[in-house]
Amino acid sequence: VGRVHLSFTPSGRDVRVPPGVSVFDAASWNGLAIDSTCGGHGTCKKCRVQVVGGTVPVHRLDVRTFTAAQLADGWRLACLAQATTDLKIDVPPLTTRPKAATLGVGRQVILRPAVQKRYVELSEPTLQDQRTDLQRVLDEIDDLELTPDLHVLRRLPAVLRAADFKVTAVIVDEALVDVEPGDTTARRFAVAFDLGTTTVVATLLDTATGTPAAVASMLNKQQPFGADVITRISATMMDPQAAERLRDLAQATLAELTAEVLAEAEVEPGEVYEVALAGNATMTALVLGIDPEPLGVAPFVMSSSTLPALLASDLGLELHPRARAVVFPALGAYVGGDIVAGMLATGMDRDKRTRLFIDVGTNCEIVLSDGDTIVSTAAPAGPAFEGGAIRCGMRAADGAVEVVRIDADGVHLQTIGDVEPQGLCGSGLVDVVSELVRADLLDSSGRFVSDERAAEIAPQVADRLTSIGQERVFVLHRPEADSPPEESVYLSQRDVRELQFAKGAIATGWTLLLEQLGLEQADVQQVLLAGSFGSYLSPAAAVRIGLVPKIPVLRIVSAGNVAGEGAKMSLLSVRERAGALALLEEVTYVELSDRTDFNDRFIDLLAFPG
Ligand code: FES
Repeated sequence: VGRVHLSFTPSGRDVRVPPGVSVFDAASWNGLAIDSTCGGHGTCKKCRVQVVGGTVPVHRLDVRTFTAAQLADGWRLACLAQATTDLKIDVPPLTTRPKAATLGVGRQVILRPAVQKRYVELSEPTLQDQRTDLQRVLDEIDDLELTPDLHVLRRLPAVLRAADFKVTAVIVDEALVDVEPGDTTARRFAVAFDLGTTTVVATLLDTATGTPAAVASMLNKQQPFGADVITRISATMMDPQAAERLRDLAQATLAELTAEVLAEAEVEPGEVYEVALAGNATMTALVLGIDPEPLGVAPFVMSSSTLPALLASDLGLELHPRARAVVFPALGAYVGGDIVAGMLATGMDRDKRTRLFIDVGTNCEIVLSDGDTIVSTAAPAGPAFEGGAIRCGMRAADGAVEVVRIDADGVHLQTIGDVEPQGLCGSGLVDVVSELVRADLLDSSGRFVSDERAAEIAPQVADRLTSIGQERVFVLHRPEADSPPEESVYLSQRDVRELQFAKGAIATGWTLLLEQLGLEQADVQQVLLAGSFGSYLSPAAAVRIGLVPKIPVLRIVSAGNVAGEGAKMSLLSVRERAGALALLEEVTYVELSDRTDFNDRFIDLLAFPG
């Protein structure tokens, strides 16, 4: 998909957007505010800008707004000006200050939630004025073309009369979904969910201010069915009842978290008018009660790439009866809505730099953009990063070694919770291997050096290199000074292999994507490490073991929980939501499992670059 370039003065901001996007949206998506009170609906006539380079056709509303001389000078309404070629636009100073929130990786989101509230004081009906109850409301809000909802008609007569005709209209997009007594404009909330296979996070957002009112997280109640998506899909294949059970468990998780955040912020369920959910393709299918089986077997097909309009009640949530649910659609069976949300939160589609996004996990999702074209893939990394298949592996919980340093004094460990080491979590695994490579105790092929060699190059830690049975191990922590190696926390030769397979699969993924766009490792200007594991990785260790391209560590950033951030952004701005949908059209999915060159690359990339 080609892009058009828009340069804005006097801010100096340069943005690239798909052709056909309005100048107003292009600015707003990139955190640049243009005056407006109607939010880009073509009714307030405040979004005046001057096109000083390139051309934009004159809209009929431009003719009513500007003089012929102004039109000839390039003055246009930004929300009606479609950018189909490169443009240079001068933006006059703001007369009103827009509300904005910073989310994701430095994304400025200008608030434009789908849910709006308008307080109106209506005149009471008389024999001379027999307008309907509904018409009285519609006449007061004449800048929007409201469509009423049956729920409103049922309540309207009683609410108007009980509240002396002073009411607040609740509007979602252009639908009038409720009329509340009195002025409730300050009370409008939404909940963003990050539905992970392991952990689920809910954030209650005050959409009037753009700030989070409460956050809660818990383990996904589906856990007893298995740790990863494959075991949960298999459960539904073996037992016809399991899918229903899994749906109920996912929905119960969302409901419990919702109750928790509402209680904490003292918000009533009826004050939540919208929810958003980002999850991988399997979690999304399961929570909606859609059969996940085709996602788990070749050729890995989704039931649908778009989702119908959904209500929060479809997710089992009891909120405002008309509360809607925005569920992020997936790009493919293995690049889910969580990644689409992550791309939104990191602005993968709005940055001119060459950037690589890696969500490290059992299934590792990789996205590469060169500023114009975006390609993505999924690499099967396996469970090593979650501590699975590792002898002393464990989840990132108290007692997990997460940082390892080897220096002249020996080995230094840091554990989660600062307690005695119990095992190795994913980031500890990456760290210890990276440190052993740095100390030359592991060679580039991933083999421990001989005892003699270890005594020569690293005498301070040489006694930690020993064997359990036939297998070489490196002891990290002995509970007692004389504990045998098998009772210690250690790294085995086989663990190193597991890590090599995992990082080899990921490196093969991004190598093939780089080739697809004709790029080299050194061309990558930024690597974003995302997800619950990726965000904790040490950039230097990731480079040393070859998990990410060999670039300066300052260019590797931890992106955090970007899926949740994307979900929040979609609730705070309908423009961001549209941006997420646009991503589905823009990103090309590259399937790796049928590539004949996958294996050769994979073998090459098992080694440690050091
Ligand atoms: Fe209101 Fe353009 S933003 S008319």
